[in-house]
Amino acid sequence: MQPGKMKGLFLTRLWKVVAVLALATQHVAGKTVKYQVHEEQKVGTVIARLKDDVADVLAKLPSSVSLRFRAMQRASSSFLTVREQDGEISIRTKIDREKLCEKNLNCSIQFDVLTLPTEHLQLFHVEVEVLDINDNAPQFARTVIPIEISESAAVGARIPLDSATDPDVGENSLYTYALEPNNFFKIDIQSRTDGAKYAELVVLRELDREVRSGYELQYTASDRGVPPRTGSTLLKISVADSNDNSPVFDKSSYVINLPENAPVGTLLMDLNATDADDGTNAKIVYSFSSHVSPKIMETFKINPDSGRLTLIRRVDYEAVNSYDIDVQAQDMGPNSMPAHCKILVKVGDVNDNKPDISINLMSSQGNGDAAYISEASPLDTFVALVRVEDLDSGLNGEVQCKLHGQGYFKLQKSYENNYMILTNISLDREKRSEFSLTVVAEDRGTPSLSTVKHFTVHVTDENDNPPRFEKGQYEIFKSENNAPGAYLTSILATDPDLDANGQVSYSILENSVHGSSISTYVTIDPSNGAIYALRTFDREDVSRISFGGKPSPGGGGKTPRWSPNVMFS
Ligand SMILES: *[C@@H]1O[C@H](CO)[C@@H](O)[C@H](O)[C@H]1NC(C)=O
Ligand SMILES: *[C@@H]1O[C@H](CO)[C@@H](O)[C@H](O)[C@H]1NC(C)=O
Ligand SMILES: *[C@@H]1O[C@H](CO)[C@@H](O)[C@H](O)[C@H]1NC(C)=O
Repeated sequence: MQPGKMKGLFLTRLWKVVAVLALATQHVAGKTVKYQVHEEQKVGTVIARLKDDVADVLAKLPSSVSLRFRAMQRASSSFLTVREQDGEISIRTKIDREKLCEKNLNCSIQFDVLTLPTEHLQLFHVEVEVLDINDNAPQFARTVIPIEISESAAVGARIPLDSATDPDVGENSLYTYALEPNNFFKIDIQSRTDGAKYAELVVLRELDREVRSGYELQYTASDRGVPPRTGSTLLKISVADSNDNSPVFDKSSYVINLPENAPVGTLLMDLNATDADDGTNAKIVYSFSSHVSPKIMETFKINPDSGRLTLIRRVDYEAVNSYDIDVQAQDMGPNSMPAHCKILVKVGDVNDNKPDISINLMSSQGNGDAAYISEASPLDTFVALVRVEDLDSGLNGEVQCKLHGQGYFKLQKSYENNYMILTNISLDREKRSEFSLTVVAEDRGTPSLSTVKHFTVHVTDENDNPPRFEKGQYEIFKSENNAPGAYLTSILATDPDLDANGQVSYSILENSVHGSSISTYVTIDPSNGAIYALRTFDREDVSRISFGGKPSPGGGGKTPRWSPNVMFS
């Protein structure tokens, strides 16, 4: 936790960087917007207002449109919230950088924001970098560190000391160690291969147990935060009587390469320390030095008699890529002084992670694996956002993404590992109403691993087809003296559109026959096109009536007309 007095300082430090990403599509613009925010800020803190920061993009849209901003779901984006009306990004739950990213220097929350309605869809990629604050002090696992040193220890003899841990990063992480000033010991700070610092206790002058048998010295770790934080422990050094030779390792350090798929039980090293003494004074016992981390004790085991170092838990390059192991060898004689040896285990990446594909569909109706796109959508309409990820490193983690869209859809890279699926044709539901799309992600490892995901695009109907009659003209011959209400004929129009868009109703166009409205002669059933006579026709009076009509709804403007002729004989 950050002390209260520091909060105000960080609240005011919000930065913004905006980078434009050019996308070669007519209808969707993509843009990456970058912000920075310190961890541990209070819930509700506003980071940015997208509406202002992407005003240049939004300016191209008609001003009458009332835009809405919508964040696309992503696990890490749950820390932030995006307000619908103006795209204001604020903190939803307190962000603890150490929990989110552990020791990673680059820690960011990334998500995508769309503007709705879909006719005015714009896509923004938001990256909020979470900056570290010095909210953790270095800490030692033990409050007292007992150390035994033989009085025969040479000036310059070295004993590795416990390391402290500090989950912060950069300047806020562990920087150095200090030892309470004294005339007999100093510390020398060393760096491990992973950059972590540790200290060695160095004997500065000859020790004489008869003069002084013990020392208690404060040992402190500190970071370089502003202000710095420190953690301390007590070195309890006892000087032991000695008349014994210490064991010796052949080399003081070894490097071992271990592939991450090495099975449990793998032998890493067979250590051989030697001792010049005889009997129990030469019987060597191997162990990890007392200060090795719990992670090392859970992962490796050293056989106390043989010095064989074996793997007891599988390693994962993506989690930890190297281990610094301190081993000691001590003989069984009285007042023995252990010898120390360092083993650096370098974990090698193996292509053990498949690429992961996540697909965000534009207009899915509740159900996650189908998108619904109107047949009126123009070319290059945005259908889905695809993100691929692979936890491996190097080529093993480089992913190529492909779309099997049968030429109807295309995949377009938007930014790093993110792609858009766009329409590549004008859709026509009456020709094809459903497409199955397959996204394939393949890494470049050897052998390469791949992942396949499917989803369906349903084309939704628009009233884009007028009804059509079977014929442009119908001729009906009827005997005169029919009864009023006699059925004359039926006409039929069909419309390939769906549901209401495809339902046809019929009506007769106003016209007059011998000065009377056509509606006094004939009528049509609007639902089925059946035409009935309304009066008794007399051939001597009217031998032929012609009228026209139209079906509706006739989307598309060019409603066909029909014109039956009824002739009486
Ligand atoms: C962190 O980001 C910077 C700039 O964005 C980049 O240069 C650097 O390589 C990144 N570091 C890591 C460890 O990913
Ligand atoms: C220790 O001795 C064994 C058996 O002689 C040998 O196989 C092994 O390589 C030696 N270890 C080292 C680190 O030299
Ligand atoms: C998109 O359509 C064009 C023209 O019809 C075609 O040449 C191209 O191969 C299509 N793209 C994809 C990715 O299918």
